[in-house]
Parts: sequence; C-alpha cells; structure tokens
Amino acid sequence: MTEFTGKTAIVTGAAGGIGRATALLLARKGASVVAADVNPAVRDTASMIRDAGGRAEAVVTDVATDAGAEAFVGAAIDRFGGLDVLHANAGITGGLVPRLDEDSATFLEVLRVNLLGPWVAIRTALPHMTRGAAIVCTASVAGLRAGAGPIAYSASKAGVINLVQSTAMALSGRGIRVNGVAPGLIDTPMTALLYDDARAKGREDRIGQLNPTRRGGQPEEIAEAVAWLASDAAGYVNGQVLAVDGGLSAQHPFTPKWSL
Ligand code: NAI
Repeated sequence: MTEFTGKTAIVTGAAGGIGRATALLLARKGASVVAADVNPAVRDTASMIRDAGGRAEAVVTDVATDAGAEAFVGAAIDRFGGLDVLHANAGITGGLVPRLDEDSATFLEVLRVNLLGPWVAIRTALPHMTRGAAIVCTASVAGLRAGAGPIAYSASKAGVINLVQSTAMALSGRGIRVNGVAPGLIDTPMTALLYDDARAKGREDRIGQLNPTRRGGQPEEIAEAVAWLASDAAGYVNGQVLAVDGGLSAQHPFTPKWSL
C-alpha cells in the first residue's frame, strides 16, 4: 500500500516534462493515471507506467476544450471508476521573450490553454470528485511578478494563481482542496531552446544563477511537490501556490558582487 493506492489521478500536459514526471511519480505511489496531452507522445508516458506495472490510460486531446476535458474525465471514470486527483498542468509559452507587439490571436491562445484549460478541467472534474479529492494547478513564478516570462504567459499564470484561490474558496466545506505549484526554471521541452543554447556555449552553470540554490530545476522536483499537495499529508493546505524555484521568488533582484 502506498499513499495513492486505489486512487485515480488525471495529469494534463503529460507527454513530457513536468506532466510526465508527475504521472510517473503518482503511478509509482499507487495511482491509476489518466495522462492527457495534445501530443501523441503522451501514449509513451502511459506505456512507461504500464511497463513498470502500473495502471495508465492515455488520452490524446486538446485539454483546453469542453470535449477534451470530457474525454479525459470520462476515461478516469470509465476505465478506473473514479477521480481523486487532478493535476491541471498543460501549458504553452507563446514565445520565450516579452513582446509589446504581441498579436491578439497569440495572446488569446496562451490564455485559452494556460488559464481556460485548468478551469475547464476543474469544472468538468468536480461533479466526479468527492470529499478528500485534490486539485493541483501548475502556475509559474512568472505569475507572481514580472521578469520571468512573456507578457501573455505571465498574465495567464497570474490568472492561474487566482483560479486556485477562487476555486478553493468556492469549494468551501466540500472537502476538496485546490492548490498550485509555481515552478522556477525547469529543464523540460518548454525550456529546451534555452538549455540547449546554454549547453552549446558551455554556459550551463549560468542557468539558475539568479536563485540562491544556483541551478535550474528538474521536472521530478516539481512532481514531488505536486504529489505532496495532492496527498492527504497536505490535508490542511488549501488555496495556496507553492513556489518550487530554488528560492528565486524569495528575494529582490540583487547585484551578485554584493553577495557574500
Ligand atoms: P512541456 O512543454 O514539456 O509541457 C507542456 C505540455 O502541455 C506539452 O506536452 C504540450 O504538448 C502540452 N499542451 C500544450 N497545449 C496543450 C493543449 N491545448 N492540450 C493538451 N496538451 C497541451 O513543458 P513543461 O515545462 O513540462 O510545462 C508544464 C507546465 O509547467 C506548463 O504549464 C508550464 O507553463 C509550467 N511551467 C514550466 C516551467 C519551466 O521552466 N519548464 C516554469 C514554470 C511553469
């Protein structure tokens, strides 16, 4: 018996990166996992879980649509008979640099995937969730304040932080907790350009230099936080967004030469 034995978890954006790491971890901890992503590589995530002796179903869909959410929630109910954990994690950047001339279509698409997506997932999952269930959304340090991402992306993630707070409050008394994680810079397909560029220039040690842990993070380190927030061990944690960023968001910008 492990902490998620007998439970069913949905992870969106599970084709790679943080979502795949979380799906694998929850499965190792006993959960039956529905892994959803628009990228068919999500089937590999489900295969990895099954090959390791776990239970998993892949759903290839746009998770930020009503039909997509019904597909992955339906898979949890039909295949595994319930729904205990939702990790609303799928996201896009819309580009890696802040642009004041961002066109409306790109801006809207970022909001659709990053903010509407978690909302549609929550709204569709809730009728199937009972007391003890838990929702974890992936926000970002970019949603806490400026300086960690493009404008639409940062605004969408700020929205996710409030979505966590507002839905936790709206669920008052129902025994369903809603929390979020705010990752810092994590080594995933989303940041591959940056990591590849740094590695090509032999400057990988510069990655994460602005946080006091002085390194970038690994997707497994975010998965650990998600699993904890989704577990009964975090039963009194509700409406919170936990920064998992090596300490980046704990400090004001500083001039390195002043550091001891
Ligand atoms: P990733 O690019 O590997 O994961 C995002 C996944 O979402 C991809 O597999 C992608 O196919 C999927 N996706 C995008 N739009 C979708 C849609 N409409 N329907 C279904 N799936 C869709 O990158 P990563 O880093 O694992 O991202 C996971 C989450 O973590 C995202 O929400 C991201 O914004 C967030 N995050 C990542 C950080 C990083 O440094 N990598 C930092 C802070 C937050």
